[in-house]
Amino acid sequence: MNSTVKTIVPVLIATLSSVAAWGFPFGPPRGFTSAPGDKPGVACAQCHGGSPLNGGGGSVRLVFPSGLTYTAGQVQNISVVINDAVAATYGFQISARLESGPSTQQAGAFTAGQNQKVLCSNNAVQPPEGCADTGIQWLEHTQPSLSNTIAAQWMPPTGSSGNVHFYVSANAANGDNSSRGDHIYAADYVLTPAASSTANVPTVTSVTNAASGAATAEAGSWITITGTKFASAATTWDNFMVGNVYPTTLAGVTVAIDGRPAPISFVNPTQINALVPATSTLGNVTVVVSSAAGSSVPATAVLAPASPGVLTFPQNQGRYIAAAVLDSSTSFEYLAPAGLLGSAAQSRPAKAGDTIVLFGTGFGPTTTPLNPEIAATVAYPLAHTGGDISTPLAQVTIGGQAAQLLFCGIVNPGIYQINAILPAGLSAGDQPVKVTLLSGSSVTQTVFIPVQ
Ligand code: HEC
Repeated sequence: MNSTVKTIVPVLIATLSSVAAWGFPFGPPRGFTSAPGDKPGVACAQCHGGSPLNGGGGSVRLVFPSGLTYTAGQVQNISVVINDAVAATYGFQISARLESGPSTQQAGAFTAGQNQKVLCSNNAVQPPEGCADTGIQWLEHTQPSLSNTIAAQWMPPTGSSGNVHFYVSANAANGDNSSRGDHIYAADYVLTPAASSTANVPTVTSVTNAASGAATAEAGSWITITGTKFASAATTWDNFMVGNVYPTTLAGVTVAIDGRPAPISFVNPTQINALVPATSTLGNVTVVVSSAAGSSVPATAVLAPASPGVLTFPQNQGRYIAAAVLDSSTSFEYLAPAGLLGSAAQSRPAKAGDTIVLFGTGFGPTTTPLNPEIAATVAYPLAHTGGDISTPLAQVTIGGQAAQLLFCGIVNPGIYQINAILPAGLSAGDQPVKVTLLSGSSVTQTVFIPVQ
C-alpha cells in the first residue's frame, strides 16, 4: 500500500463519519446559502451536481407577507417557492443577517416547522437557549419536501436593527437520494424596517386581463394591475433578467398572486404588467402589491382555465388586432393600414390567401405547460383537454368567413399565436375578427384587420 492510499483512507473515513453526523439526507450542513461567510456563488452546488448554481432553468424565490419590509414583533410566515421543470423533491436552507454585519450578525429568529430544524454555527440543532457564538441561524429541511412551496417562520429583530438580508438556497432534486442530477438555486432579498407611516403604501384598484381588460385571467397569462404608489418611476424588465429568469422584483415592487411571486415586465407609479404565476387555483385569488413602504390591502383576481384576449395595436383606441402578415416564409409586415404604425414599422392590409399571424393571451392549457417565470420561445399547441381530438383548436372568422387555421398555441410565456389564411371573397376595408377557442370561450373584444 503506498503512502497516498494510506493518507486517503483515514481522510475518507473522517469524511464519511462527519457525513453521518450531518445526517444526510436529513438536511445539509449549515453554511450553504450564498450569504457572506457561507458559500456565495456556490451554495449547495458545493456537493450537488447536475447544473451550475442557478443554471437549471428554474429559480428559488421568497414571498414575504409584508413585501420587502418587516415590523419588530410581527412574525412573518415566509413562503419559499422553488420552480423547476423536472424536480421530484425539494430541500432548502435560509439565513437572515443584519446589513450591519452580514457574515456575523443574526437578524431575528427562525422557528422550525414540521420536517425542519434550525442549525447554529457549530452545526448542531439550536438548543432551547438559542445559538451561541454570533447566534447565526440556518433554517432547513430535515427531509425533502414533495411540494415546491415551503413555509418558513421568522420573527423579525426588535428595535432599530436596520435592513435585513435574506439568503436562501434550494435543491430542486431528482429524488434519487444522492447528490447527483439535482438543480441548485440561490437568491437574496433585502427587507427594510416598515415605515411607521402608511402614507406611501401601494393601493390596488383593479386587476384585469392585459389584452381584453376582462376581470378574469388565466394562470400564466398577462395581467394589468392599476392602483397608486407602485414604483416612483417607470421601469421595464429589460435590464433585470437573471439569465433567462424573469424578475419578480422591479423598482422595489413585488406582486404576490395566490401567495406566489409574479414575474413583472413593467411598473410605474400607477400600473404594473405582470404574468400570473403557475397555480392550479381557480376562482378568486389574492393580489398583493408591495414596495419598501409596505403591502397593499389584498385585491382579488379571478382565475379561469382560459380567459382569451387578443393583443391590439395602441393606435386608433386598439381597433386593430396586433398581427402580422407574411410576405414570404422569412419576411413579414404588420397587419395594419399602411403607415398607421409610423415609418419604423412597415404595415399593410392583407389579401386573400395571405398567411396572417395574430397574438393574444389566456388561450388555455397547451400540450406542454410553459413555466411563466422563464423566457422561452416555443410552439406548443392548445391541449385537447376535452378529449375529442377532432375538435379544432380554435375557430377564427374574418368578416364572418371561417379562416383556415395553421397553428394555435403558446409561443412565449403568456403569449399565444394563431396562424391562419385570409379567406377569399372579403370586401376591402376593415373586417371584424372573431376567435372562439376549443374550450368554448371566445374573445369578446371588437377588433378588426384591414383587408385590401
Ligand atoms: C457537504 C455536501 C453537501 C452539501 C453542502 C449539501 N448536500 Fe444535500 N446531499 C448531500 C448528499 C451526499 C446527499 C445524498 C443523501 C445521502 O447521502 O444521505 C444529499 C441529498 C440531498 C437531498 C435529497 C436529494 C435527492 O435527489 O433525493 C436534498 C433535497 C438535499 N440534499 C438538499 C440540499 C440543500 C438544499 C443543500 C444546500 C443548502 C445541500 N443539500 C447541501 C450532500 C450535500
